[in-house]
Amino acid sequence: MFDRQTIAKLQKFPTPFYYYDLEMLRKNLAALKNASSPYGYHVHYALKANADERVLQLISEAGLGADCVSGNEIIRALETGFPAAKIVFAGVGKTDEEIRFAIERDIHCLNCESIQELEVVNDLARQAGKIARIALRINPNLDAKTHRYITTGLEENKFGIYFSKIGEALEMLQKLTNVQFIGLHFHIGSQITDLTVFENLCLKVNEIRRWFREKNLPLAVLNLGGGLGVDYDHPDRKAIPDFHNYFQIFHRHLEVPPAQQIHFELGRSIVAQAGALISRVLYVKKGINTQFVVVDAGMTELIRPALYHASHKIDNLTSSKPKQKYDVVGPICESADYFGKGVELPETGRGDLIAIRTVGAYAQVMASQYNLRDLAKVVYSDEI
Ligand code: LLP
Repeated sequence: MFDRQTIAKLQKFPTPFYYYDLEMLRKNLAALKNASSPYGYHVHYALKANADERVLQLISEAGLGADCVSGNEIIRALETGFPAAKIVFAGVGKTDEEIRFAIERDIHCLNCESIQELEVVNDLARQAGKIARIALRINPNLDAKTHRYITTGLEENKFGIYFSKIGEALEMLQKLTNVQFIGLHFHIGSQITDLTVFENLCLKVNEIRRWFREKNLPLAVLNLGGGLGVDYDHPDRKAIPDFHNYFQIFHRHLEVPPAQQIHFELGRSIVAQAGALISRVLYVKKGINTQFVVVDAGMTELIRPALYHASHKIDNLTSSKPKQKYDVVGPICESADYFGKGVELPETGRGDLIAIRTVGAYAQVMASQYNLRDLAKVVYSDEI
């Protein structure tokens, strides 16, 4: 990602900034297409991972659909070229205004997460004189074996309709005149690196699908969500996620009757490796047992270490001296404001350029202005 020439060009931009390598994103999209198209799978991109306009344009041009969790994400998806017919809308707390907007724009499907939401969608569709297509998001009570904050498919989580309540949801659906039930939606968590989790998901989905078949309820669409993890330790060696094995698992283990559409909603695996947070070293400070590298980016630009103890590879782009151990921290008034502890870096000094890797997903979208900081800008690889 960072050859000498690129590093020299990046020197001229004020730090901190997000650097998006659009060529890498293109390669990743090509790999995704290669791996998913033999099976005819429909892949949506989860905007929550990165909603930058140029990133979205590239993804919509590649033919993906969009997975949105707010009215503003739907607006952004439409603005950046995703056709309404390829947009799905999920979320446990959709507001009336957002639902109205989704119905009015005739998006592909609303993934409903509670029985009460079904009634609200039906009411709002009736008021608009429309029939809203909906899928039931099912909480399959399945462990995604990932960080508990990004686990969504357990009964203790707020997401989806619990399987024990499905009968009730179906009874409700029979009474509703302005919703059309088209299928089921699942999403059990994010940054899933143990692929057997997806195998387990397939088995669970097969079981649930059979239950629907016994009741003679056809499912036109099955949406298996996202969650494929990326390699945060080796962003160069493993720049392209394991799309092949991922889709192959579904192909092998999912029972798919003819004419059933299979959808996915991937976020992180599409964009994460195409982004880096570029920052400059302000100070190197000797602590009692630690040396701190204080950089000008902080948890305001990348909150993942503070929030999930996430680890991101850190590179010093401008030093090649012998290595030393450092804690790399930001300038924010919180001890949780760190990027890495005990990180081995070439001897580092004031003014060095630091790259925090694998931040194309869930970094810029989670930025804040805490401490009244400015929002960091974006630099694209084709503009340097
Ligand atoms: N579909 C639904 C319904 C979701 O809730 C999510 C992510 C996705 C798809 C996309 O999942 P992905 O393919 O990106 O794993 N901020 C956290 C991640 C939160 C994920 C939320 N839901 C992080 O920085 O790790």
